[in-house]
Amino acid sequence: MKSLEKNITIFENEFKSAIQSAEMFDDLEKVRVSFLGRKGKITELMSQMKALPIEDKRKMGPKLNLIRKNSEQSYEDKKRQLIQKQRDLEILKKQQFDVTAYKPETLQGSLHVITKLTEQIENIFISMGYQIADGPELETAHYNFDALNIPDDHPSRDTRDTFWLETPGLLMRTETSAIQIHELEKQGVPLALIGPGKVYRNEATDASHAFIFRQVEGLIVDKDISMGNLLATVKVVLQKLFEKQDLEIRVRSAYFPFVEPGIEFDFCCPFCKSGCSTCKQTGWIELGGAGLVHPNVLKHCKIDPKVYSGFAFGFGVERLAMIKYGINDIRLFHSGSIDFLRQF
Ligand code: PHE
Repeated sequence: MKSLEKNITIFENEFKSAIQSAEMFDDLEKVRVSFLGRKGKITELMSQMKALPIEDKRKMGPKLNLIRKNSEQSYEDKKRQLIQKQRDLEILKKQQFDVTAYKPETLQGSLHVITKLTEQIENIFISMGYQIADGPELETAHYNFDALNIPDDHPSRDTRDTFWLETPGLLMRTETSAIQIHELEKQGVPLALIGPGKVYRNEATDASHAFIFRQVEGLIVDKDISMGNLLATVKVVLQKLFEKQDLEIRVRSAYFPFVEPGIEFDFCCPFCKSGCSTCKQTGWIELGGAGLVHPNVLKHCKIDPKVYSGFAFGFGVERLAMIKYGINDIRLFHSGSIDFLRQF
């Protein structure tokens, strides 16, 4: 019995100091396993009792049980203490977190080159007294075709050029010219506006064609508007946009159902001397179409074509950007390439 009592004292002392020095959960768990676990020291003390005579067993049994109970209690207390300590540490960590110490590399966002150019174009027109108009990208055949004097059998109604919706009569607008009609109907005349926006064409892409691109539609309707006004306006706007007085532009006659007469503007290809893939070996890049508003369009909007006349034009913004910044592939604008976009 003497040796058991001695072992109990050793157990108590060792257990006390082990519990005291446990600073982390892991340490405490080791203490639990080695002292109170199934194969731990307390179990060993219990088994030492087996060899004792019955009276000693009666004496030592309750004593050992009490020691076990107290030890388990000290373990639980310590565990609670460590949980609290852990929580306090976490709170302290949050309080002392230095937000200024963490500086990830910042990616600075900026406006897309096409957005910037559109804003420049808008500002030029605002300075000339034009208003900025907007219109829906999802259009009805009425605004995109009928009201623009595009007859039913016109090839651009063919599904090859137009993204038709499954709902009959609805489509993604193929030109910003549809904005003309909305605004003429809403505001009447006199009217001077530009309508920038996205247009959709169901056609193959290449270096100078995208199936989604941006146009800026221009429209003025008033008394005595002439082709001279159109040419002068376009010339001044392009001179301001390119910050250049001598621009190499050519004007050709062209057919657009909503203007009469119609013309097309081409810009001398800045990428080559005698033809390249961007200008399709022609030496010229098409900027857009224009002309005097067709009397049928005015009549549709209840405007008397004998009293009023107007001009309209539509330029491709990506094409203008290609020329202004020397970019020879239209697909780059929407490629999502950060390296490309960072240049602007
Ligand atoms: N809407 C024509 C196009 O997309 C351009 C245009 C606009 C032509 C206005 C004449 C008048 O090609």
